[in-house]
Parts: sequence; structure tokens; C-alpha cells
Amino acid sequence: MDYLLKSGAIAAQKTACLVVGVYARRDLSDAARALDEASGGALESLLKQGDFTGQREQSQLLYDLPGCGCARALLIGLGPRKEFTLAGYREACARAAALINDSNPVEAISTLPTLAPTDADLPRWLQEAVVASEAATYRFDRCKSEVEKPKRPLRRLGLFIGDRRRSRKLEQALANGKGVATGMALAKDLSNLPGNLCTPGYLADQARSLGRKSDKLKVQILEEKQMQELGMGALLSVSRGSRQPAKLIVMEYGGGKPDARPVALVGKGLTFDAGGISIKPSAGMDEMKYDMCGGASVIGAMAACVELQLPLNVVGIVPASENLPDGDANKPGDIVTSMSGLTVEVLNTDAEGRLILCDALTYTQRFKPSVVIDIATLTGACVVALGAHASGLFSNDEQLAQAIIAAGKASGDRAWQLPMWDDYQGQLDSNFADMANVGGREAGAITAGCFLSRFTKKMKWAHLDIAGTAWKKGTEKGATGRPVPLLMQFLLQRCGLANE
Ligand code: BES
Ligand code: MN
Ligand code: ZN
Repeated sequence: MDYLLKSGAIAAQKTACLVVGVYARRDLSDAARALDEASGGALESLLKQGDFTGQREQSQLLYDLPGCGCARALLIGLGPRKEFTLAGYREACARAAALINDSNPVEAISTLPTLAPTDADLPRWLQEAVVASEAATYRFDRCKSEVEKPKRPLRRLGLFIGDRRRSRKLEQALANGKGVATGMALAKDLSNLPGNLCTPGYLADQARSLGRKSDKLKVQILEEKQMQELGMGALLSVSRGSRQPAKLIVMEYGGGKPDARPVALVGKGLTFDAGGISIKPSAGMDEMKYDMCGGASVIGAMAACVELQLPLNVVGIVPASENLPDGDANKPGDIVTSMSGLTVEVLNTDAEGRLILCDALTYTQRFKPSVVIDIATLTGACVVALGAHASGLFSNDEQLAQAIIAAGKASGDRAWQLPMWDDYQGQLDSNFADMANVGGREAGAITAGCFLSRFTKKMKWAHLDIAGTAWKKGTEKGATGRPVPLLMQFLLQRCGLANE
């Protein structure tokens, strides 16, 4: 979809559909008030019929309002004015875009950005309008033989900014929104694709084709033989049970000065996790196609960096593998040697994410990153702790942790920090190797973080456990594209292009 800034008077906006917000109890937003005045009170008198009160989740199409340049007005209920927040705004933007996408107009103008509390908030609110509208019209139908596409999809959305001037900052906000949305859509596409189609090789091909589109993006795929030579015994032990060869995807985006240290993003790319010999129960196992969402978010973020041409160096690394039971698979009790030289007793073959990540993290050191963030659907325990609303955050650097928390808050893609005190490390003790790959039932998300921390001592490092946030279950089953918004906010912040 195309987005553009629209300014001037409300009544003068020529469009097939003008979107205006109304708070609960028919409390008109400024834009709705202006529309009412231009129409000689027609809006108020229609509202008096009582069908539409402005509750959240309500919407109403009106035709032929006199004195206005719009063919239709779409009223969007915002709920009580006092309770209206950026989160409610995102939801309102999404609702409007979805409704218009499924109805006749192919272009519209939304006045919802004028709900921003202050001028300083406007860039953020514009950015979020783009992200929310794109997310609301996202469909994954690649695997359906007959696709029900909207007959007249929304193609152009004007974002109304009242009498304010267009500016570089506001245009940048739209671009940021587009970039984030591109990254999220790619992450969702890769994640929703099932394990038989989205294999490690497929992920590698997707990364390669991204690299061909930009001369700033260099993509290299390490094959199992090269991993062997590097001594990646932990990563390779996971893919032993699979007929799909593992891939280590390495993407280098060079938008910054050649000598500037990069930000490294490392994403778990487990294209299907059956658990291995420590096999998972079969109920809901299909959802383990989503065990590559961390890797997908890294590939999505790299695509967004390319689209936004960020003046920054970013390295994206995705260890990709399957985890399946097989005669040659890892067995409980097996001891493997990681690239770092540390040995690991694989007490549970289902704790495979940390095994592929530890070697990928060791490999990351060669890029001398200023910071490294790994992103992984790592533990069911994190879902128990935080549910679907926040990703788990772990870090060995408090400044980095705070920057990530701030990026999550600003983008609405929140992370919540959990402790990594040394007290937990003892749970990983092994009688036979340097460490075990599991730390028992207690604090499972934390001991997973502790495991990774042993391989990142030389770097400023943070770990995001996205097991609860990366996809939705049930009737709305599907990837969320998280934490691409957080990651992009973090990267935009680092090059001074972010909105608060
Ligand atoms: N990919 C899973 C984690 C997971 C489970 C994500 C459920 C989302 C929903 C990971 O590989 C795994 O199996 N972790 C184990 C670790 C345990 C054996 C210590 C888990 O969480 O059960
Ligand atoms: Mn597992
Ligand atoms: Zn897994």
C-alpha cells in the first residue's frame, strides 16, 4: 500500500472514504467535530439515532454527508477518551484499514493520526498507522489452491496531519513504518510457511535472494562441511537426526562506515522442532514449524535495513536446522564439543535451540560486534512466565538491556527483563561435561539464558526469548512478525532516525 501525508481542511479532503474517530458516548474527536461543522451538524444528528456510540470495536459507514469532499465517512469507535492510548490507536488504525480493504474504496484518508496527543508524538503516530494498516491487511495464502482476495483492496492511504506542514521528519516516519512493515511481512511469510517447504535450505535461498537485491548486503551460507572445520559440534549434533543439511546463514549489511563495528543479530532458525529423541507430545506439535521465528525476524530486519538504507553496519546470523528423532540423532547423555571448546552433555535433545545458538554466537565474535542480540523461541518456560505479551529479555550489559526495553516500549513490541544472577548457573552443572544443556524444571527460561551467557562473555550481549510472542495460537493461528518492530526501533535509535 502507498501512504502519503495529507494536510489542509477536513471538509476539503477529496476521497472515497474519510476515516474519523469518535470516543465513547458520542464524544467527537477534533476531526469528527470539524466534519460535523462542515456538514452543518449532519454527523451529530446521524449519531443521535443511537446505533453508533463510539465504543471500541464499533464502526459505522456514512454516505453523502453534505458540505464535504468525501463520498463516505468511516466512523471508528475509540472507547472512552480518558482511556485512549497509543495501543488503542494502533488497534483503531488496524480496524479501519481492514474494513476499507474489504469494501469498495481503493483509496482513503485517515484523520486518526490527528489523535496524537502532541505535535511531538505525531511522527510516532504516523509510523504506527503504517505498521498497523500493513499488519491488518496481511494475508498468508501461499498454500491455498483458491485464494479469496479482496475484490477492491485498499491501495492508497492518505494520513491527515491537519494544518501542519509536511517535513523531513514526518516523511521519515512514514518510511520507518514501511520499513518495519516490510520486515514484519517477510518474517511472517517465512514463519507461516510449513516445515516441509521452509527448510534450512529454503531459508538460505531466501537470504541469498535478499542479498542479490542490494549491493550493501553480502550473504554467505556456511555448509555442514565448513561448520565441521570450524568445530561447530553443538550445532551439527542437532542436525544429525535430519535429512535436511543444516545451514549457517551469514548476512552482512554495510550501510555504515567500513570500520564501524556492526550490531549483530543472531536468530534461531529451527525449521521444525519435534524434540528429537526426547520427542515432544503430538498435540500442537505443528506449531513447532514456528521454531524458526527468531531467524525469520533477523532476515526480516535485514530486509528492513536494506529498504531503509540505514546508515549502520548490521550482521545477521541464522543457524538453521531441523530437530528430529532418527537412528543417527543426538541421544540423551551424548556429549558434544562446541566451537568454543566447551563440552555439553545433552541431557534433553529437545533443548536444541541453545545448542545451535551457542556455536552461532561463538562464530559471531569474529565480526567484533558492538553489541549482539540473539532472538529465539527458546523455552516453554518463558511462555509460562510472561505469556504472549512480552518477550523475555536477558543480558550481560545493563545499558544494552535498557536500550532494548526502551525500543520495545516505543514500538509496542515489549520485552521484560529477567534476572541472570550467578545463583542460577549451578543448575547447569554436569558430572561428565563442562555443562548440561538443561537446568531442571525451575526457572527454565533463565537457565537457558545462563547457558547462552557462557558463550558470550566477550561481547555485550542480550537474548530475547520470543517463545510466547512470535506467533498466535487457536483460530487466529499465525506469525506475529515480532520482534521485528523492537529490533528496528533499536537499530533506528542507534542511527538517530527513530521516533520516540
Ligand atoms: N522450541 C522449544 C521451545 C518452545 C516450546 C517454544 C513451546 C514455544 C512453545 C525448545 O526447543 C524446547 O523444546 N525447549 C524445551 C527446553 C527444555 C527441554 C529444557 C522446553 O521449553 O520444554
Ligand atoms: Mn526443542
Ligand atoms: Zn526448539
